Order: sequence, then structure tokens, then C-alpha cells
Amino acid sequence: MQRCLTLTFARHNRLLLRNKCASAHCQQSAAMSGLLINQPKYSWLKELGLSEDNPGVYNGSWGGSGEVITSYCPANNEPIARVTQATMAEYEETVQKTKEAWKIWADIPAPKRGEIVRQIGDALRKKINVLGSLVSLEMGKIYVEGVGEVQEYVDVCDYAVGLSRMIGGPMLPSERPGHALIEQWNPVGLVGIITAFNFPVAVYGWNNAIALTCGNVCLWKGAPTTPLTSVAVSKIVAEVLERNNLPGAICSMTCGGADIGSAMAKDERVDLVSFTGSTNVGKMVAMTVQDRFGRKLLELGGNNAIIVFEDADLNLVVPASVFAAVGTAGQRCTTTRRLMLHESVHDTVVERVAKAYKQVRIGDPWDPTTLYGPLHTKQAVDQYLAAIEQAKQQGGTVVYGGKVMDRPGNYVEPTIITGLAHDAPIVHTETFVPILYVLKFKTEEEAFAWNNEVQQGLSSSIFTKDMGRVFRWLGPKGSDCGIVNVNIPTSGAEIGGAFGGEKHTGGGRESGSDSWKQYMRRSTCTINYSKDLPLAQGIKFE
Ligand code: UN1
Repeated sequence: MQRCLTLTFARHNRLLLRNKCASAHCQQSAAMSGLLINQPKYSWLKELGLSEDNPGVYNGSWGGSGEVITSYCPANNEPIARVTQATMAEYEETVQKTKEAWKIWADIPAPKRGEIVRQIGDALRKKINVLGSLVSLEMGKIYVEGVGEVQEYVDVCDYAVGLSRMIGGPMLPSERPGHALIEQWNPVGLVGIITAFNFPVAVYGWNNAIALTCGNVCLWKGAPTTPLTSVAVSKIVAEVLERNNLPGAICSMTCGGADIGSAMAKDERVDLVSFTGSTNVGKMVAMTVQDRFGRKLLELGGNNAIIVFEDADLNLVVPASVFAAVGTAGQRCTTTRRLMLHESVHDTVVERVAKAYKQVRIGDPWDPTTLYGPLHTKQAVDQYLAAIEQAKQQGGTVVYGGKVMDRPGNYVEPTIITGLAHDAPIVHTETFVPILYVLKFKTEEEAFAWNNEVQQGLSSSIFTKDMGRVFRWLGPKGSDCGIVNVNIPTSGAEIGGAFGGEKHTGGGRESGSDSWKQYMRRSTCTINYSKDLPLAQGIKFE
């Protein structure tokens, strides 16, 4: 209700602004708005170029005249500031400008593009603490994690700079004399990047840095609940492009909801759609893009397991499980949702993990001592309660947590549930909240099978000292996930590896290794430099 009222008020306020209100009106509405950005405590938001009302479109110039949305702080549900989203006409104009910008960007040699990406990384370094604070304020994750995801963007920029002097294909041996067989890689063109609320900086960064280096231009739509972060990041990137006299539309942004997202999915001019979000929405995006034979890169749900064997070092298992299940309040795609414990260590590990949960400092996410903050939205709180209810109905026992916390904001207790069957429907469901299902297993075969029996295939970890088991885990009958770890948690992947997963996780790979190939198209080129025309396979056609 409060949100509705504020939205109505925001629309009213916007109208006033559009009518070039007299300054007296503006001052009055600012004082009445109660936005956090107007409080001295949050004045640092202005260092990011943010104000009460922010334009949600960038395509070389800033604009936006669509719906005005208010961004709320999940730790207290207070409004922070407002963003005006893109209309469909502004989306259209932005796509055209972005396509135009590609003509310039694609002609710039890759190492020179890398230099621009290096400057983006440096600009982010200068703002890392303040941008991390905004992530903490708007998304609700703790400050160090907010800074950590800006660090991921910085790191992937560094990675992409190196890549800018390395990408390319091999010259392969031709079977024909006087012929060269070459692989040529070209940018796909325009990369549409749709990101989720939980990593409102890093996931854009992985896509943006690599796509740019490969010679693509980007059009970003961030989550509708983290629009201030999208605006702040775009301002940093835009400043670098403009300083280098490049078209700002090389990195465009259209804030919006499902309307903009589905326009991108349908749009033949968007050569690659990189989508991060739920499996359900991802499936719709994938079908729409496939319908036009477009390219897609999907990072969808996870249902990640840690498997603890009888020989595991429990001094690693306990902090790893707590970090992976409680970190980011259970809102990472890589969060551990299933903790599979060998029967010989089950009770000990449950007891130690529950004890560690008690030590988790809950508080304001931006307080440096806090380890655990709120859920991002009120809807997530409802999902949390519904999942606990279902788990109980399906035979689970809540051994820790299970309740909404009596404090402002969307706080719930991190929760541990034991006693469920490995294939209970709730165990096979990804609920994006901090609930950990503990399962008891007897054999390696059983544990590996349970790891793989869920629809998702993002991340997985075992804790063991048995080298044979480690290599069975990495092999064809081991984990079927995109991320396969040993003696570390399921979350917290480094940018240097390819990030993504199999099955209902969508199959995409972003960030490091050879993920750059997803942002380029490959041409196999055969060049005859002889005076004859020999045919392949020795065919004579004369
Ligand atoms: C996500 O949850 O969408 O591995 C990404 C991790 C982070 C990225 C998570 N580096 O947990």
C-alpha cells in the first residue's frame, strides 16, 4: 500500500517536473518525498551522480519519460530515489543509436577497445566503495559483498584487456595444396543484457567487458528493483566513452520491466540476448529468441549441493556451508540449497552448522560488522514462509530459524531443515531464500546421483580427502553441473573461469575462459593461393 501511494505521488511529482514546475513547488515536493537520498546520512549517493529523480535511459544522452519507479531499501522499506523508465519509443530510438554506434566501435582494433575497457575498470576502481554501498542499500546484500561484486566487474575488465590481444582463431592445416584454412572471429553486433536483482553490477560487468572487447555494443536492462545501480554504473561507463569521444550508445541502457525485456527478446536487431534470471522467465526468453533463430546466453536457476563425505575436514565444511547457504541471504544462483551429509558425520555437522548460524551477525547490510541482511523484497519473505510450510508438510523438521524477524525490512531467519527425502518436491525446487535442506546419504553413488537428479545444473561441491573420489566427481559419472568444486563452497566463483550451468540452468557460459566465443561468430575461411582448383575429398569434377 505504501508503495502504491508513493508511486502515485512519484507520478504526480514527475508531472510537476515535466511541467517545469516553479522552484517553490519542487522544493516542497522534495521535502515531502521522504526519500533517503535527501537525508544527510545518504548524501554519498550524490557522488554517483544520483538525485531524487533519475533518467532511466542512456543512449549517448540521458532521458526517459516512461513509468516512474521508486527504488526501496530492503533493510527498512524506505524509498531511496526514483527512476523514470524507458517508453517503447525510447527503446526503439536507443536500439537505432546503439546499432549506429556499432559501426564505429567494430572498426576500432581489439587492443584499442581493450584500452577503453581498461579505463572502465579504472573508473570503477575509483568508485568501488561508494558503488558497493549503493548495491548494499538498494539490493540489501552486505557491504563487503556489494564491493565484492564491483570487484568482479573490475577483475573482468582486466581479464578482457588481456583478451583484447589474444582472441582469434587458428590457421588449420588444409588438405589441399596452396590453400589456407583460417578461423575468423567477428563480433555478433548488438548484445542485449538483461540482468537480475541479486548481482546488479557483476553480471552486467561480465557481459559488458567481454562483449565490448569482442567488438560488440551493449544494451542493458537491469532489474526493475535495482534501477539506481543500473543508472550509477551506466554513468561511470558513459563518462569513459564520452571522455574518449566515442558514442555513448556503445553502452546503452533502457530501464524497464517485462515490456522492454520481451521487446529485446523479439527484436531481430538484438544479435545476442544474454539473460540472467529465473528458469521460468528464461524459458520464455529462450523460446522467443529461438523463434527468430537469434542467439541467447542463459544463466538461470541453480539447486546447488555440498556433499560431505566421512573423510571430510569439518573445519572447512562448517564455514563453507554457512557462507554458501547464508551469504547474500541465500539469494545467489550459486547458494547452497542442499547439504548432503554422510550418515557418519550427519549429526555432528548439523550441530556445528546450527551453532555457527547462531553466530551470524544480523543487521543493517551496510554496517561493516553485519554478515546477514534482508531479503530483497516482501514477495521473497512470502516465498520463504510458503517453502517452510511445504517442507514441514513433506516431512521436514526445522532445526534452526524458520521465522520472519520482528524488525523493519524484509528480514527472515536463516533456516536449516532436516529429515526430508532427497526427492521431496520442495528439495527439488529453487526457492531464492536462505533455507538449507540437509539430507543424509550412505554411499558415494547415491550422493552423486542425488546431486544430479534435480533439473538445475549450476554449481556443486564435495568435501573429501580421497583423490580417487575427487576424479570420479570431475569425470563423466560425477557432477553434471557447470561448476564442480572440491573442498570449497558452491558460491563465490572467480571471474577467470567460465561461469554457467547445464540443463535448466540454461547452458550459457559468461566471464572467463573461452566464454568470449559466445559473443562472437566464427567464419571458417578457405583461401586458395594456388593456380589450381583441387576439390576437397579428392573429388574430380571434370
Ligand atoms: C549469481 O548468483 O547470479 O559465484 C552469480 C558466485 C558469484 C556470482 C554469482 N561470483 O557466487
